[in-house]
Amino acid sequence: MRKRITVLKGDGIGPEIVNEALKVLEAVAETYGHHFAYQCMDIGGIAIDQHGTPLPQETIDACLDADSVLLGAVGGPKWDGLPGDIRPEKGLLGIRKAMGLYANLRPARLFPQLADASPLRREIVEKGIDFVVVRELIGGVYFGEHKTEEVDGELVATDVMPYAEHEIRRIVQVAMEIAKKRRSCVTSVDKANVLDTSRLWRKVAGQVAAEHPDVAFSNMLVDNAAMQIVKNPAQFDVMVTENMFGDILTDEASMITGSIGMIPSASLGDGTRGLYEPIHGSAPDIAGQDKANPIGTILSAAMMLRYSFDLCREADAVEAAVAQVLDQGLRTADSMADGCTLVGCRAMGDAIAAAISAQT
Ligand code: IPM
Ligand code: MG
Repeated sequence: MRKRITVLKGDGIGPEIVNEALKVLEAVAETYGHHFAYQCMDIGGIAIDQHGTPLPQETIDACLDADSVLLGAVGGPKWDGLPGDIRPEKGLLGIRKAMGLYANLRPARLFPQLADASPLRREIVEKGIDFVVVRELIGGVYFGEHKTEEVDGELVATDVMPYAEHEIRRIVQVAMEIAKKRRSCVTSVDKANVLDTSRLWRKVAGQVAAEHPDVAFSNMLVDNAAMQIVKNPAQFDVMVTENMFGDILTDEASMITGSIGMIPSASLGDGTRGLYEPIHGSAPDIAGQDKANPIGTILSAAMMLRYSFDLCREADAVEAAVAQVLDQGLRTADSMADGCTLVGCRAMGDAIAAAISAQT
């Protein structure tokens, strides 16, 4: 199979973690007889420095022209003082929107090898953590009107949170389809006791759920969901929610699995082209020091193989290789534990790539 991948390394640890994911993709290509062509483009802070904008038109064009997109991370203190519309994060939001990627899949799965790294008590962890958050990605307060104005001598800031029925329907539909390939259970998370957008969300989600009687469906308020994730994460299979609730809950969900550095994500729209990125940020404090955990990005590449290219055997191989190096006790600093071997970003990528090549 031949595929063209646009690569957006971004800022901070972005370049180093993406390099390891490319190493792993090359091991897959070689082992399974595929050909991946990469085109690197700028996004985020580096794009501001090079082109004066966090999302140059040529980056958008290259993403829309590719079979899929792999992204590292954007942002850093260097650009923190910039106004909202030319911050690095604007590049990330812009490319999600430009590619129409409304469905963000973020698995929260505990590798048993990392059970000790989870901050949860052993008896909770032992019940198993394996759920996926389906986050609406191009609507809500992220994309509503933002303004700051002076009213009666003081500043007043406003962020508008719009949701249309079709935006809710399509994301809940995605959650239903994913649930059918898992344990057939969907929890829709909202704040319907306060927000109009959530009351509409609950109504539309209920309508979609009624079309899928084979899926167990329930609603949960977001504050309760935040509590339930740490109290009894085993109850969840698929959680579907709006953009900002999903942003917050996925950081929480990732941490209970041991390290945010392990969690991949897939952002999908109506076609097969997606954008794949780890859910963590650009970690400028450790950038360029070969300390970052590349596994979140490597597992994002595995999701690309699975969801965009339908290469499930290859995706399984990458996931098995990650499990294998964890079994060997290799850990980057974020997930280091007693009796394990501390390795850098490059050595972790090397080990995973080698494990793939050795599988056949
Ligand atoms: C994420 C990040 C982004 C978001 C930021 C960097 C804009 O936190 O992907 O979760 O809020 O979506
Ligand atoms: Mg986030």
